Amino acid sequence: MNDIQKAQYKERYIRAKRNGEKFFPDTLYKDLLIAIALFLLLIGLAAFIGVAAEPRADPSDAAYVPRPEWYFLFLFEMLKFFPGSLEWLGTTIIPGAAVIALLLLPFYDKNPHRHWKHRKFALTFMSAVVVAMVFLTIRAAVTTPPQKDESAVATSIPAKIAAGQDTYSVQCAECHGSEGEGGVIKGVKGLEGFKMKAINSQDEMYTRSDDTLFNIGEYGQPNLGMPPFGKAFGGELSRSDINNLVTFMRYTWDNRVEVPKETASSNAIPALGPNDIPSYEANIAPIVKRYCVSCHRQGKENNNYIMDTYQNVMNSGDHKPNVIPGDLNTNLIRMIHREKIDAGGEMPPTKALSPELVSIFERWVKAGAPEKATK
Ligand code: HEC
Ligand code: HEC
Repeated sequence: MNDIQKAQYKERYIRAKRNGEKFFPDTLYKDLLIAIALFLLLIGLAAFIGVAAEPRADPSDAAYVPRPEWYFLFLFEMLKFFPGSLEWLGTTIIPGAAVIALLLLPFYDKNPHRHWKHRKFALTFMSAVVVAMVFLTIRAAVTTPPQKDESAVATSIPAKIAAGQDTYSVQCAECHGSEGEGGVIKGVKGLEGFKMKAINSQDEMYTRSDDTLFNIGEYGQPNLGMPPFGKAFGGELSRSDINNLVTFMRYTWDNRVEVPKETASSNAIPALGPNDIPSYEANIAPIVKRYCVSCHRQGKENNNYIMDTYQNVMNSGDHKPNVIPGDLNTNLIRMIHREKIDAGGEMPPTKALSPELVSIFERWVKAGAPEKATK
């Protein structure tokens, strides 16, 4: 730089300082450069680092507490001062007024000075606002409970196992068998005669993590004929339902896992003394739920025999009545004895009920198929 240039530069500098800089194009040009730089930085971050994915949104999860990002927490916290019908003040009026005040700033703040000593009111006011925002943000962060993870939402392990067992019986047993034993599929459209491997084996349990089992439940195995069950994929199960299923499978089939003591009693098919009279509510419903409902429920054809309530067990199906009180020659009894009759073949189709369970059905029908226990 020679002296002439230096002099020219200095002159320009003094002029600029005296007259101020033009917003257009000078300031705008600088802003634009910085904006582009930031934009490139963001693209770079998004491309090379990315954001950790949160769990997939689950419309059926009632336990999820929606909550803003941290930089909006102060607004969120402010709502606490405007309960109920005053909410509109905190959500609309106050933030709206603040934004408008900021927009109009050039029109009412005509103070030409830049030194802080001459801008006491503006600085004090703005500092108070910033302090309030920081205070509210911290207050919100401290007082809002953390998002519960799903495992904390569901109850105890025995409760989860019991819930998972129920879901399994309804959703999975028709293909995988009531105990995950697999076998040749009968009575399921599209998979008739398919030889299903056991999913309750140690081979399966040792090689599949809980996450894998969860994903299989959620996405299914569409190429093999297992439909997706997650609500997000058009199925019927919420994420916590599937979690319970996984808990059930893990605790029931994996011999490395110790089952909590209370489980056996909360989930077992009730035992029956030699002179007890079985009732539908106490004895039959739990067996039906575990071994029959997967195929005999709303939405399944299977001769329209819906085994969801006492009335339907007694009086639905193309060959109703399938249970005639006192008559051991009724369809249901003959079919669980694996006879082939007009109403259909062996029930359940894949695997015979154990003799104990068959005898509970027989004793129930013989006693007149009562709905409730007689005391
Ligand atoms: C319509 C029939 C059907 C239903 C219902 C069904 N599955 Fe499956 N499932 C299959 C088929 C078919 C396979 C592939 C099995 C094979 O290869 O032998 C399979 C495989 C599996 C596997 C093993 C996957 C692997 O890679 O080892 C698991 C675990 C499983 N299913 C769990 C479930 C659970 C849990 C449910 C209930 C939510 C369920 N299934 C309901 C048909 C079904
Ligand atoms: C894997 C699916 C499946 C399971 C599990 C199952 N069923 Fe069935 N059930 C069928 C099908 C399919 C039919 C239609 C008849 C046929 O094709 O054999 C049927 C028909 C029946 C009928 C005749 C209904 C009528 O009015 O025609 C009775 C009774 C019956 N089942 C009882 C049971 C009982 C009791 C259980 C449980 C112990 C059971 N089923 C479990 C698939 C199933």
